[in-house]
Amino acid sequence: MEEKVEIKVIDEARQGEATMVKVQETGGKKLYLESYGCQMNFSDSEIVASILAKDGFTTTRNAEEADLVLLNTCSIRDNAEQRVRNRLKHFKSAKVHNPELVVGVLGCMAERLKAKLLEEEKLVDLIAGPDAYRDLPNLIEEVGSGQKAANVLLSREETYADINPVRLSQSGVTAFISIMRGCDNMCSFCVVPFTRGRERSRDPESIVDEAHELFQKGFREVTLLGQNVDSYRWNLTAKGEIKNPEVPTVNFAQLLERVALVSPDLRVRFSTSHPKDMTDEVLHAMARHENICNYIHLPVQSGNSDILKKMNRGYTREWYLDRIRAIREIIPECAISTDIITGFCSETPDQHDETLSLMQEVKYDFAYMFYYSERPKTLAERKYEDDVPVTEKKARLAEIIQLQQQHGLASNRRALGRTFKVLVEGPSKRSDEHFCGRNSQNAMVVFPREAVVAGDYVEVKVTDCTAATLMGELV
Ligand code: SAH
Ligand code: SF4
Ligand code: F3S
Repeated sequence: MEEKVEIKVIDEARQGEATMVKVQETGGKKLYLESYGCQMNFSDSEIVASILAKDGFTTTRNAEEADLVLLNTCSIRDNAEQRVRNRLKHFKSAKVHNPELVVGVLGCMAERLKAKLLEEEKLVDLIAGPDAYRDLPNLIEEVGSGQKAANVLLSREETYADINPVRLSQSGVTAFISIMRGCDNMCSFCVVPFTRGRERSRDPESIVDEAHELFQKGFREVTLLGQNVDSYRWNLTAKGEIKNPEVPTVNFAQLLERVALVSPDLRVRFSTSHPKDMTDEVLHAMARHENICNYIHLPVQSGNSDILKKMNRGYTREWYLDRIRAIREIIPECAISTDIITGFCSETPDQHDETLSLMQEVKYDFAYMFYYSERPKTLAERKYEDDVPVTEKKARLAEIIQLQQQHGLASNRRALGRTFKVLVEGPSKRSDEHFCGRNSQNAMVVFPREAVVAGDYVEVKVTDCTAATLMGELV
């Protein structure tokens, strides 16, 4: 069995950039898989690759030679869906050359549009929602017998805990571990609760076992994934009551600590934290363990309390700033990033200015910024008018992007002259003479190659920087 096959990952939610990664090849029919959206979708693609490898699928990076094309899709904003529709148009021509080709849509668009997608996109043969991936071999068989096939059932239990994901990360150094699925928060702008279903946490033993196994295979960093990791709970109700007295209870801080104890050489990251739920207990666990990275992604969305209320985020500006204060106090070296939406329903110029002033107060190291895109079925779509003109939304977005660029550059400049422990991930994009990796704060650091290999920890002294990258030399 050769190790080949590629998967294309397009992180619409967070990175907006396509990357190619390796998957295991098992022979037989050929699968081409493309992943859009958040890290959780990427992690799901690893589960899909695993399920289909057992079904005899050889993966390929070349869509033209595929028997099966699967797009793992995202619905978070309208333009995320448009990208997928354009991609589907592209596969239309592939189907002309190869009438046997099966094209399937997975993930959030499959869930959101259900059978409508089969009508709208005539060439789609198969759709499977995020909780239906175990059914893929059956669905493919159904298509083989000349029907269109769909399974978009959401589950209250499915966590794919027993499925050993096929690791798609290029370096073999960093990996994702899904610790929960779904979301119960119902932020008024957000489609995720509709596409991913109810929140459920995965058995902590299976999470810790997966981390052990990854470490033994040479991985040196795991990222624990959930839409709101702070509401991870095992054997606890939402109110914090014990469900079964015979079973140990585990909250997120305890889970984080257990994964950190796998090995001091296994770095631990996590995403996403929710300002309404993030506890000091989590921050203290981070401070106690050097291998839990000093980096928190804490999406604020808006700096104005009335808008936050309308967004149903469950916190005010003051509460959010108090969480920032707690991070700075308990983990002084912690980098902080955020997500921001501009032009939400009824947002005034003054309310927008409050987002800018909050950014000035926090000075984020990094931010993902978007203008509001109304999503069908959400509370905001049903209750509020999408009344900020798109030109205004974009102008506000440009303003926050410009401010963030200053803050990002200032954050990198503060690193000049300092030495950081960096986990080597592999050759840098710009040249083979250079390697790159991240420091604990999640900043990308580029340095001359010398005698290091992916998976090593090295000390790098920062000598130069851009807004996006730190450059340095090994010490
Ligand atoms: N669970 C995470 C967010 C997942 S979606 C959290 O609660 O923080 C990633 C980001 O996409 C969100 O933080 C938000 O900033 C953005 N987003 C979500 N819905 C959006 C919409 N309708 N329009 C624009 N941006 C949106
Ligand atoms: Fe969406 Fe809010 Fe859940 Fe995040 S916490 S996935 S923004 S509903
Ligand atoms: Fe997109 Fe679904 Fe993730 S909507 S951001 S792929 S949960």
